Amino acid sequence: KRLVVLVSGSGTNLQALLDHIAREGVGQYGAQIVAVGADRDGIVGLERAEQAGIPTFVCRVKDHPTRAAWDRALTEATEAYAPDLVVSAGFMKIVGKEFLAVFGGRFVNTHPALLPSFPGAHGVRDALAYGAKITGCTVHFVDDGVDTGPIIAQGVVEIREQDDEAALHERIKEVERRLLVEVVGRLARHGYRIEGRKVSIP
Ligand code: GRF
Repeated sequence: KRLVVLVSGSGTNLQALLDHIAREGVGQYGAQIVAVGADRDGIVGLERAEQAGIPTFVCRVKDHPTRAAWDRALTEATEAYAPDLVVSAGFMKIVGKEFLAVFGGRFVNTHPALLPSFPGAHGVRDALAYGAKITGCTVHFVDDGVDTGPIIAQGVVEIREQDDEAALHERIKEVERRLLVEVVGRLARHGYRIEGRKVSIP
């Protein structure tokens, strides 16, 4: 299976996928990353792709007259690599109707909280501020909402007294990277069915 991974920052989830596929082999894992896309330049996530010899593309919102035009550009740039599955790993933009029309049902996101709790761009900070005792990460299919699509898998992380956002997020990422590698591999190797909010992987 062909994967395109979308990033906006450090790309450590992307790196976890790259390292695992390099170790296990594309044949065994069932998927290969054919391109990495971003919404901005100069991020470590793009350097990680370049280090791995993987093609990259950047679609900046400010380069387009409207959000819909950006969405179309992102869709076309992604389609050019004919992915079977698109993975958002820290991609900090909400895609639009056109992207979902093409990739809906095969577009996966990872979120650093236990959805439906704490959706949005500050899930780690919000869980901490709320005084939650446990949080975690969620891998889900992207639908037309924000972090509302059908959940595939979740991992639990306890919140500690002395946690600040950075420490907690790093601990969540340790679980999240393993979960994402496992889920993407299963989806790629076994296929899946989405019925309403239920995802089944044979
Ligand atoms: C991840 O925790 C992801 O869930 C969140 O942003 C983080 C991206 O981390 N949306 P990285 O860029 O993969 O290191």
